[in-house]
Amino acid sequence: MLSVYDAIYSRLAVEAGVNTLLVGDSVAMAVYGFESTIHATVEMIASHVAAVRRTCPSIFLVADLPFGSYRKGAKVAMDAVEALARAGASAVKLEGVAGNEKIITRIIESGIPVMGHLGLTPQHALALGGYKAQGRTEEGANRISEDAKKLEDLGAFSLVLECVSRRLGAHISSMVSIPVIGIGAGAQVDGQVLVAYDLLGLSSGRAPRFVRRFIDGRTLALKAFEEFFQQVDESQYPSEAESYS
Ligand code: KIV
Repeated sequence: MLSVYDAIYSRLAVEAGVNTLLVGDSVAMAVYGFESTIHATVEMIASHVAAVRRTCPSIFLVADLPFGSYRKGAKVAMDAVEALARAGASAVKLEGVAGNEKIITRIIESGIPVMGHLGLTPQHALALGGYKAQGRTEEGANRISEDAKKLEDLGAFSLVLECVSRRLGAHISSMVSIPVIGIGAGAQVDGQVLVAYDLLGLSSGRAPRFVRRFIDGRTLALKAFEEFFQQVDESQYPSEAESYS
């Protein structure tokens, strides 16, 4: 699974054989330059879901329910789900379980599949004291395992497990029958997700330990921009062949 936000990267991901796309609330940081995912809104995510759906009509597409959209009562939550589904989402993802049980059931009963998100849940980063690995204590690990079971029992079709030890990742994956998609949860899970910009090496700054930059996209893009500026300055671009007679 890949987290993508637009036509270009979703088309590439599908061409490369991706199984599932996610329009994550990380869009608020990666595209809009906010400090955290808390700034993502339903409108923001819906607009990116629509772009991805127009480009990839048949891909299974999960949309994040942003912060605040599922904790203000059933009407607000169902309006958000409706907006994302109408924009083209095949399913929605939400973070945590405690306090979300009723809304998870309601969304599923309305016909929209729900994906859970456990471990490091970025919408709770303030309460968690930052972006840290979770489930480090026995109590914490038990809580995440219990939450995974609860999600399965509530009818979630899958869950994202972020930033936990590979041992806990393997344990949870063997404990539940729904697919566990890891991000920083080790290799013994059922699938992996990364933000496309991260794996392409386009994001700047220090990446979390689990990010592998499969190419150095930032350096490649910088080089291309610099070459463009230089060739314009040196009148090497555009050439005759790149101009109209
Ligand atoms: O927002 C996002 O892109 C995500 C993935 C990193 C799992 O939730």
